[in-house]
Amino acid sequence: MNILVIGSGGREHTLVWKLRQSPHVHSLYCAPGNAGIAQHAALVSLKPTDIQGLMRFVRENKVDLTVVGPEQPLVDGIVDEFEQNGLKIFGPSKAAAMLEGSKTFAKDFMAKYKIPTAAYRSFRPGELHQAEAYSGTLSSPVVVKADGLAAGKGVVICETHQAAVLALRDMMLNKAFGSAGEIVVVEEFLVGEEASVFALTDGERYVTLASAQDHKRILDHDQGKNTGGMGAYAPAPIVTAEVLQRVREEVIEPLLEGMRSEGTPYRGCLYCGLMISNGRPKVVEFNCRFGDPETQVVVPLIEGDLAEILMSVAEGKLDPQSVKQHPASAVCVVMASRGYPDDYQTGKPIHGLETIQPDEGLVVFHAGTRSDGENIVTSGGRVLGVTAIGYEHELKSTIDAAYRGVSAITFDGAYYRSDIGLKALR
Ligand code: AMP
Ligand code: GLY
Repeated sequence: MNILVIGSGGREHTLVWKLRQSPHVHSLYCAPGNAGIAQHAALVSLKPTDIQGLMRFVRENKVDLTVVGPEQPLVDGIVDEFEQNGLKIFGPSKAAAMLEGSKTFAKDFMAKYKIPTAAYRSFRPGELHQAEAYSGTLSSPVVVKADGLAAGKGVVICETHQAAVLALRDMMLNKAFGSAGEIVVVEEFLVGEEASVFALTDGERYVTLASAQDHKRILDHDQGKNTGGMGAYAPAPIVTAEVLQRVREEVIEPLLEGMRSEGTPYRGCLYCGLMISNGRPKVVEFNCRFGDPETQVVVPLIEGDLAEILMSVAEGKLDPQSVKQHPASAVCVVMASRGYPDDYQTGKPIHGLETIQPDEGLVVFHAGTRSDGENIVTSGGRVLGVTAIGYEHELKSTIDAAYRGVSAITFDGAYYRSDIGLKALR
């Protein structure tokens, strides 16, 4: 089969890398991709949001399956457009993607179907005073969230009521997040440890993949600003067999049933962002896609043919038994450009990539890179995800292997955290 992957980050490089291992994949394309993805797939210079252009490409090149990486085209309705035109695509419909596209929708849905989550209320334009008053009834810290997509930046943890009032005014009056923040969710702060669980589902049947932990802050020991994610590891020991069972029974199953009964079955990858406290999971957020950088550690642990698995989801014929996990661990350390998540420079040549040996269980997933003549140069804030897959090893040796990979790669202004995965060893 011929496959098109949409997106250009480390998540998409991982999907392309795994799809390339399938004997069933003939032509593999990625739009728009990056310099690492170009090793496995033909790059197509189309934007992920150019739904009509992508559909034209798929028709002209006889693509059998399109796999969507990022959330924006899903929330825009790419799946509905493709399916109405008889084209197979992996991802949820526009209505189902609302679980990520609108936090109010997600919270109201969880309340209706009794999925455990933080206490909340949602406020529309003109309800600033009500929002301030509700925030005053919660004990600090209070969490203020823009309703819509805000590239991971729409969440403010407010240490005091005063800070919450400022955040609310910023979103609702000053439109700090544009239209995404016209509606806000104010919620209770959850205490515990975060982890994520992905479910692949055709709307009826589902299978969970290895649990993972992201490292969102820029500095070691979870200090400093929030980022898109500075590293990840899988599996996460905090997600014990008992916790996973709860996630299945209290989160995933009621969600799938609820979406079916609303007439909008959820198909694709469901990302459950969880806060776990005393063995009890609560939902922090849902995403309607694979996570980044969790995909870099979760997908390599899938035993089986990813092309067949994703196709079976798109066709509504998933066989959960066909998806097995390697009893292994994986660690991804993100190498970023100094200054990220604020301003940073690009165009810096990257050295040492050719020294990485795949047979040592190391693979470098590119996030922000491009080709410049003979060189591969930086082109984004997050540049590389150096990933170790420890098929036979303990997590500790997988962490060490990932950092050995990191030390072999250099570029001007390279920055990375030095404590990825250490949480799991405690
Ligand atoms: P989100 O964009 O919804 O993933 O939120 C970004 C981050 O904010 C999450 O990964 C959590 O670390 C944190 N967060 C969001 N909501 C809450 C909450 N109710 N309690 C504690 N932390 C939260
Ligand atoms: N790693 C968090 C996300 O993909 O949203």
